[in-house]
Amino acid sequence: MKIVIVGPGAMGCLIAAFLSKSKEEVWLLDKNKENAAKINELGISVEGVSGSWQAKPKTTANVEDIAKADLILICVKSFHTKQALEQIKPLLQQNTKIMTLQNGIGNIEIISELTGEERVIGGITNEGATLIETGKIRHAGRGETLIGTIDGKVPVEIRSIREIFNKVGLQTKLSRDIKGLIWSKLIINAGINALTAITRLSNGRLTEFEGTKRILREAVTEATRIAKRKRIKLIYDDPLAKVEAVCEGTSGNISSMLQDVLKNKRTEIDFINGVIVRLGQELGIAVPTNKLLVDLIKTIESSYKQRLDA
Ligand code: PAF
Repeated sequence: MKIVIVGPGAMGCLIAAFLSKSKEEVWLLDKNKENAAKINELGISVEGVSGSWQAKPKTTANVEDIAKADLILICVKSFHTKQALEQIKPLLQQNTKIMTLQNGIGNIEIISELTGEERVIGGITNEGATLIETGKIRHAGRGETLIGTIDGKVPVEIRSIREIFNKVGLQTKLSRDIKGLIWSKLIINAGINALTAITRLSNGRLTEFEGTKRILREAVTEATRIAKRKRIKLIYDDPLAKVEAVCEGTSGNISSMLQDVLKNKRTEIDFINGVIVRLGQELGIAVPTNKLLVDLIKTIESSYKQRLDA
């Protein structure tokens, strides 16, 4: 199988490094020529919970080097998904599958619109990673990856993908309800990401303070109300207990949104708390805490150059 990972961020590098242990042909596609050349020459260095190790996936900024793909994993930030799909168009064959494990709601819809629902494999991963510099990552935490198709069917290709992932050490299971999966992860991200990015605290510290505990609880309760109204079946029974358990389980993690804010980068707020705000308006459900989190993150994003600690 020819596998292409698009986007050499923390998660893209982690997955590319693991998949390089397989017998498959693995490519990493970057849009930045210099970074691609650097990773192609030096490889990916991983340190953290899986030890200190190196991988050397073929890396390029030029899709023509790759020619065709059987599986393409989109690992860019959600606001770059459309652009990534434009870049990979020449790689598509009749049976090429496109997989997204990105945070937030909207990626499956963007991919389906451009390539058709039958190509899409969606899911979530609970692996944690931090990008240290180009091609260097910290594997911050281990966790399961869950994947499935939009119609809930389990075609043979997705079984092979699960097998490849499991063989290289990415513990992976199949799901028949990826909407439920993605919403279950969304609620976790809605509780943790913006709040850590605003307070600059690691995940675990959110449950140490009365204020952050209360805001987290309110953000999660609002998001859960929306999920309920939309008849989404979550993969856990008690959302607040789950989000608090994730804070604990990933206590030392710098959330992906805090990583973005610390680098003065655009965040995925529109695909996380922003979705709750938009649906709250549509469904007539009050979501003031999520609105406040969105407003604060947008303020931070538009004032990077003016911040006193910058
Ligand atoms: O976005 C992230 O950082 C992660 O999805 C999570 C679960 C919040 C852990 O850091």
